[in-house]
Amino acid sequence: MLNSFTKGYFPETDFPIRTIDAEKCSKCGRCFETCPTLGFQWRKGEVPTPVGYGGYAQACLNCGNCTAVCPSDAITMTGVYSVREGRYKNSLEGKMAFPDPLCLNGAKMYDGFKEELTPVERAIFERRSNRLFKDKKVPREVICRILEAGRFAPSAGNCQPYKFVVIQDQSIIHDLERLSMKTMLRPLKNLYLDHKGTRPLWKRIVFNFLSIFMATKFDPRPFTAMEKADVRKDKIYFDAPLVIMILKDTRGVSNPDLDAGICAQNMVLAAHALGLGTCYIGLPIEPLNYPLMMGLRKRLSIRHPFEAVTSIAIGYPKGKIDGVVKRDTPQVAWIGS
Ligand SMILES: Cc1cc2nc3c(=O)[nH]c(=O)nc-3n(C[C@H](O)[C@H](O)[C@H](O)COP(=O)(O)O)c2cc1C
Repeated sequence: MLNSFTKGYFPETDFPIRTIDAEKCSKCGRCFETCPTLGFQWRKGEVPTPVGYGGYAQACLNCGNCTAVCPSDAITMTGVYSVREGRYKNSLEGKMAFPDPLCLNGAKMYDGFKEELTPVERAIFERRSNRLFKDKKVPREVICRILEAGRFAPSAGNCQPYKFVVIQDQSIIHDLERLSMKTMLRPLKNLYLDHKGTRPLWKRIVFNFLSIFMATKFDPRPFTAMEKADVRKDKIYFDAPLVIMILKDTRGVSNPDLDAGICAQNMVLAAHALGLGTCYIGLPIEPLNYPLMMGLRKRLSIRHPFEAVTSIAIGYPKGKIDGVVKRDTPQVAWIGS
């Protein structure tokens, strides 16, 4: 126990290495735009450079979105994101692989068998989080279809312990972005990330102390996304024309968080089938519970017994976003044959 505390912060982390083939690169900057972290440096007309920050040589979540949106197939990723030791040590196997639902042992490329898959399976494998939105409103009837997909999600005891907040008013989205950065995300991120590339003792002490109360909050990944939001003037929602926030009814039986998550994924897949792009946005959820955010909670009609669980940025994708990517392989215990 004591040992895991001493190894808690900062977790020793490996990031994957991204390389860009300068010959192939079209210099469009889509990798820079879509990256959930500040993983690339880019200036118009130049080949982007994969970078790190905050003491990390690379900043990459291994999501592969940069490879999916690249129009010229110029990006290669090697290695995996992993936390080597301490409390955050990965339970993943560190073997990045393409989808292999037909158990072909990864030998065949996805394109070789995708026709054999159902449309639902293809959507599951090819959907990528979309952070590049067209400036185009989502019609009301399309929004209703997404909400209906949420309503028909399974829930424990058929409680349907949720409420949906449909936000199209950009001024509220901006206030949510700005206030969550100001009250919580920016101060926390500045405390955690070290721009000099060193990790002073006082930060270890502060984070070890905080971790007693917030044991799962200090993996570097969310901090790298906060850094991007900070640099991009608080653009947590990437200018999406529509945000749907999913609230849980805290009175739900069993596990209303899980119910809300299942419901949200129904909406994401329905939106995808309707030609929309989506991205879960979790960053402002924690700050929304701050006492300082009471006014905003009221404007978002979040009142007891409801609490925000997650939100989804939705809109029409700008260019090609989807594409199959490699994923790490989780442990699987086969019990029986
Ligand atoms: C609960 C949840 C919260 C997330 N929050 C954010 C977020 O705040 N910002 C962001 O850019 N992406 C966010 N994501 C998207 C993940 O980064 C993304 O799903 C992951 O990197 C895998 O990429 P893919 O969705 O393209 O497969 C979130 C995803 C989930 C499930």
